[in-house]
Amino acid sequence: MESKKFDPAKLVKLNDPKRFTIMSPDLIWDTLHLSDPQVIVDIGAGTGFFSVPFSEKMKNGKVYACDISDVMLDWMKENLPADVKESVVPLKMEETKVPLPDDIADLVYMINLHHELDSAKDIIAECQRLLKKGDTLMIIDWKKEEMEDGPPLSIRVTEEDIRSDMHAGGFTKIIAHPVLPYHHFVVGEKS
Ligand SMILES: C[S@@+](CC[C@H](N)C(=O)[O-])C[C@H]1O[C@@H](n2cnc3c(N)ncnc32)[C@H](O)[C@@H]1O
Repeated sequence: MESKKFDPAKLVKLNDPKRFTIMSPDLIWDTLHLSDPQVIVDIGAGTGFFSVPFSEKMKNGKVYACDISDVMLDWMKENLPADVKESVVPLKMEETKVPLPDDIADLVYMINLHHELDSAKDIIAECQRLLKKGDTLMIIDWKKEEMEDGPPLSIRVTEEDIRSDMHAGGFTKIIAHPVLPYHHFVVGEKS
């Protein structure tokens, strides 16, 4: 079976400025209504396309930009802007394990990753472990519709798949924000 994983050789696609218009970091951030987050975990951070603008929204906070790919991690280490070197921390993770302590995060998120996961159940359990009680898991991924960009339709997931994975992982107050044209945007709370 062909791999569902993003091909690191296509890394440059992740930095395409067109992405700012179809999934604006400002819009995503404003929709979350977070209250002064200090620790954010970005799972499947890629080139830090979202880690960087989110870190700039925080006052003295940190974004752990986690990825399984050494290509992505090396790229971030070499290319992240100097002024976010303290606030964005590239971090190597395994498929379902993040080397950070329990209950540290105010927000954990995965963007354009859900359809690539080997085990959504195990990574969502890991998100539960990382989050503080009452805090938010955000999952954004391509809608399961035909469109010019993004992964093949056959491997995309539905909003219901994401909701049901979050629910099975113990998340509550699961809601979808219909603000992105090509992506599901689902949040849930660690209760
Ligand atoms: C399509 S890219 C999205 C990158 C970034 N979230 C963005 O939207 O710009 C998916 C990324 O997830 C990484 N990845 C795949 N499976 C992963 C896993 N289980 N845990 C962490 N990262 C993973 C890939 O190496 C790749 O960098």
